[in-house]
Amino acid sequence: MIRGKVCVVTGASSGIGEATVRALSRAGATVVLAARRADRLQRITEEIRAAGGEASWHATDVTRLEDLEALRSHVEETHRRCDVLVNNAGVPGRGRFAELPLERIRLVTETNFLAVLTCTRVFLPLLLESRGHVVNMASLAGRYALPGASVYSASKHAVVAFSESLNGELGSRGVIVTAVCPGFVDTEGFPQPNAPRAVTFTAEQVAARIVEVIDRREVGSVHIPTWAGPLSAVQALAPPLYRGIAGRVARRFRPSADG
Ligand SMILES: NC(=O)c1ccc[n+]([C@@H]2O[C@H](COP(=O)([O-])OP(=O)(O)OC[C@H]3O[C@@H](n4cnc5c(N)ncnc54)[C@H](OP(=O)(O)O)[C@@H]3O)[C@@H](O)[C@H]2O)c1
Repeated sequence: MIRGKVCVVTGASSGIGEATVRALSRAGATVVLAARRADRLQRITEEIRAAGGEASWHATDVTRLEDLEALRSHVEETHRRCDVLVNNAGVPGRGRFAELPLERIRLVTETNFLAVLTCTRVFLPLLLESRGHVVNMASLAGRYALPGASVYSASKHAVVAFSESLNGELGSRGVIVTAVCPGFVDTEGFPQPNAPRAVTFTAEQVAARIVEVIDRREVGSVHIPTWAGPLSAVQALAPPLYRGIAGRVARRFRPSADG
């Protein structure tokens, strides 16, 4: 049941995050948009309100603790509660490890992983009060590491592991945690000119699945497409076969799954 829930979404200024706040609002949630580009957040918030939804926004750099604390204060003052936190903000990390600038490695790790931990910690008191739900945006690259996407893939593997562990830890206190793992999604930050159609999705399709995950309080890792989940059996039971497939996929769809 989504109607009436207060849902905070990071990275809401474009792509999957923008589609998610619009879809959550259509389902009756009150949405809080967070990202750095205030002009975008303001425009999307106004459009949601014009369509009859309840929304607010707060300019936030998820890599800055003080911004995340200010976002929580905004949520407390404006909406009094937080039922769902969608940690969606993320940056790509394409490129061979040896050539990737150290600043990029740090940025990918800080934005895609460390900020997920920090934001979750900052919102944890509110989530414990509401017996809420943390939805972390991972990726199929967080389940299957392809050559050419080492840093991005490691950041998303870390998000999957964090989500799985935290769900086990907080379950008895009523808070659930889910990792969402989409394949290819053509967005501003992640253009996908070479992606195979069969595993390419629109931001709206991913958002619709996120709404379902929240509505049904699904836990664990949610794969998009669903059939990508059981591929982990190949990885576990036949590692050389898995590495052969991963190498072929990486060569064909250079340079990475989505990063
Ligand atoms: N597209 C894919 O193929 C794909 C597949 C699997 C998973 N994902 C994941 O999905 C998430 C959303 O990506 P997308 O595809 O929708 O790309 P996108 O359109 O480029 O959106 C990225 C969002 O993250 C925000 N962001 C980046 N750095 C931030 C920071 N330091 N503080 C606050 N917000 C920040 C951006 O907003 P501002 O620039 O306004 O701050 C933007 O709203 C990412 O975590 C990505 O890794 C994407």
